[in-house]
Amino acid sequence: MMKSIAFSVSSIFLFALCAETVFAQPAGKAIVDNACTTCHGIKKVTDAKKNAAEWEITLDRMIKKGAKVKPQERAAVLQYLKTLNQ
Ligand code: HEC
Repeated sequence: MMKSIAFSVSSIFLFALCAETVFAQPAGKAIVDNACTTCHGIKKVTDAKKNAAEWEITLDRMIKKGAKVKPQERAAVLQYLKTLNQ
């Protein structure tokens, strides 16, 4: 009984983990493609070489300038931006 509960809990956790990696990136990319191209081209974003902390600072600076990224979209956007450095 305990074993099957532990198995279910870990399956749910694993599923959530996979769902996050599978879905967060396209969602983040779509938001960036929309919200980050109204003032400058997408190259300004995709050519930037930044680590995670620098992206956070830049993203918040762009939001202050007027980038339309909702608070609940911020994590997905940051996750996508961090993949650009590789
Ligand atoms: C309201 C207009 C506007 C929007 C929307 C906007 N930007 Fe910018 N961005 C600017 C301006 C102006 C500059 C150049 C001046 C500066 O760097 O502050 C810039 C410069 C940049 C730079 C180069 C400078 C640096 O710090 O490396 C990056 C990278 C960047 N933006 C990323 C983004 C991202 C990511 C988004 C979407 C979340 C975004 N921008 C949306 C106005 C905007």
